[in-house]
Parts: sequence; C-alpha cells; structure tokens
Amino acid sequence: MSTTPTARVYRPTPRNLALLARILAEGGLVAAPTETVYGLAADALNAKACRAIFRAKGRPANDPLIVHVASIEQADEIAVLNDAARKVAKLFWPGPLTLVLPKRDGVPDIVTSGLASVAVRLPSHQLFRELIRRSGCPLAAPSANPFGYVSPTTAAHVRDGLGKRIGHILDGGSAKIGVESTILDLRDPKHPVLLRPGAVSREALARVLGRTVTVHRRATPASTAAIAPGLLERHYSPRTPLTLVRKLTPALIQKTGDKHALLFMQKPAQISDRTFWLAEAPNAFDQAAHNLFDRLRSLDNGDWDHIHAELAPGSDALALAVNDRLRRAAAKR
Ligand code: TXA
Ligand code: MG
Repeated sequence: MSTTPTARVYRPTPRNLALLARILAEGGLVAAPTETVYGLAADALNAKACRAIFRAKGRPANDPLIVHVASIEQADEIAVLNDAARKVAKLFWPGPLTLVLPKRDGVPDIVTSGLASVAVRLPSHQLFRELIRRSGCPLAAPSANPFGYVSPTTAAHVRDGLGKRIGHILDGGSAKIGVESTILDLRDPKHPVLLRPGAVSREALARVLGRTVTVHRRATPASTAAIAPGLLERHYSPRTPLTLVRKLTPALIQKTGDKHALLFMQKPAQISDRTFWLAEAPNAFDQAAHNLFDRLRSLDNGDWDHIHAELAPGSDALALAVNDRLRRAAAKR
C-alpha cells in the first residue's frame, strides 16, 4: 500500500522534542513511541484535542483512551489510587501496565467514554515520558493505527496507516515489547480483574496483591461493553484472511495452496518461500511479541490469499498476549 504522506516524521532531537511538546500543549496530536506500541497522543485534559484522536483513528466514541502520566503524583490527579493500585504501581511502573481506577473530576467524558473509571499508565519509554514532562500534560494515547487494524510498532507503520490524517510522528525506532500493556481493573481492590493480557503477568500481579486475579471473560457483548467497551472481539486485523492452528504440521501444510503464507511461532527446520516465523529460538516469546505486528503487516502487504499462523504454546505472559492478539486478528468480521 503506498500513500502520499502528509505527516512529518521527526528524529528525537532535543529541538524536535521541544517542538512536539509545544504542539501537544497547544492541543495538537503527536504520534510517539512507547515501550509497547506507538501511541497517538493528545492532552488528556483537553476534550477537543481528544476528540481529534477519535476522528483520526476512526475510533467509535464508546472505546475509552488510556491516560499516560510521568509520575505517581500525576496519576493521582487523574485517578483515585487505592492501596492495591499503589502496591502494583510501585513495582511495575514505569512499565507496560495500565490500571483502571475511579476517575477524578476534570478528566473529560470523551477520554473515558462517559465511564466513572479511567485507565492510567506510567510508561517506561524515555521519549514518551519526555513529551509528557515537557508538555506539562497527561497524554491520552490509544495505539496509533486506524481503528481495528494491526497496531503499529514503528514510525513507518504509523505513517502507513495515519500518514494522511495526522501531522506529526516522532520516530523512536521499533517498540521494544511489541504488544500493548496489560490492563488490570482495580476499581474494586478486593476483586482485581485482568482486562487485557500483556508483558506483566497475571501471576506476578496476584503475588503482589496477595489475591487471585480473575481473567475477564467476554461472556456477552453487553457485559463487555459495560466494563471495557474497547475490548471488541475483532481487532488487530489484517485484510488477508487469517486462520490459527496449534501446530503447522506437514499434513496441514500439504493442504494449503501456493498463495497461502505459513507463519510459524519459531523458525522451522524446513523453509520455503511461503515460510515465515516470529522467533528464532524456541519459547522466545519476547521475540515473538516484538515481531508479531510487523510480520502481520508485511504479510498483509504481500500477495497472499491467506495466512495460516501458529499459536504460542504454554502460559508465559507474552505467549498469552500474542495469542490474545492473534485470536482477535482472526475473529470473524
Ligand atoms: O500499551 C498500551 O496500552 C498502548 C500504548 C500506546 O500505551 N495503548 C493502547 O491503547 O493499547 P488502546 O486505545 O489501543 O487500548 C486501550 C484500551 C481500550 O480499548 C479499552 O479496552 C481499555 O483500554 N480501557 C480504557 N479505559 C478504560 C476504562 N475506563 N475501563 C475499562 N477499560 C478501559
Ligand atoms: Mg489499540
């Protein structure tokens, strides 16, 4: 897909950071890297700026945004942190963990989709934190991709998807983790609920909290809409049809056509021009997560009729996160 980009891509020089921070402080949009994926940021306390995020992404208004902060004190201004939240924040912030908590007045309804709660995260990416600090704004930022498409992990991904809809992209190289943050609902500290799997594991959270962390099951569309409107079944989806299997066995491969791409979890022994993989080594789920969205995008831009992809084995946090994204990418339209 070739687009004529109107967005400018900036190198992370002190001068450019100052310029981009000023654009944010004045109500503009800036796409910038975080350790998970690239985000499309705006001043979280500026309703008009946040509405522009929804417009640029084509995102429905019932899908709330995550507010990024640079310190616990700034998180306190956005959300009401209970003791459980302070405990996990102390251990996992800065990092790929988002907490859903009661919101403070002053957070615009557009950010939370009118919910009484808000999602907050203190990212570890230096450039993103620098933008928060220099702009003086908490930054609302969803992943910087058109709604429903594969998330972006490089500045080029952002430009491919939003290049004609936004003006400014900060290039900080490829996002280290590659899948979005773990989302933990701590509105009721006695009943922590995992809303989205990510690099921070459910077990680690349970250990710190001294309680079981329930996994949110998408029981009915209505109940999901009430808790996390954005956790739609179909998401992260390439245009090319995608089928998932436990293992790409020789028997299975034989049944696939010439224009079917085979996406292995790890590099297989037999390689053809239809063979692709997410990691070099077995059980290298950090590599798999890091490569996932880039591989899906490049396969989607290739001339394939179909993608057959393997699920990750085991229960490593990033294996579960990769499988969650793959399942939603493969969900029926
Ligand atoms: O890693 C990440 O979290 C990335 C980077 C940019 O920080 N951001 C990200 O944002 O993944 P996004 O918009 O793609 O996903 C945010 C999701 C929403 O779709 C929704 O499911 C959940 O966070 N969310 C936000 N506010 C919520 C709330 N008040 N209650 C429940 N879920 C909420
Ligand atoms: Mg997203």
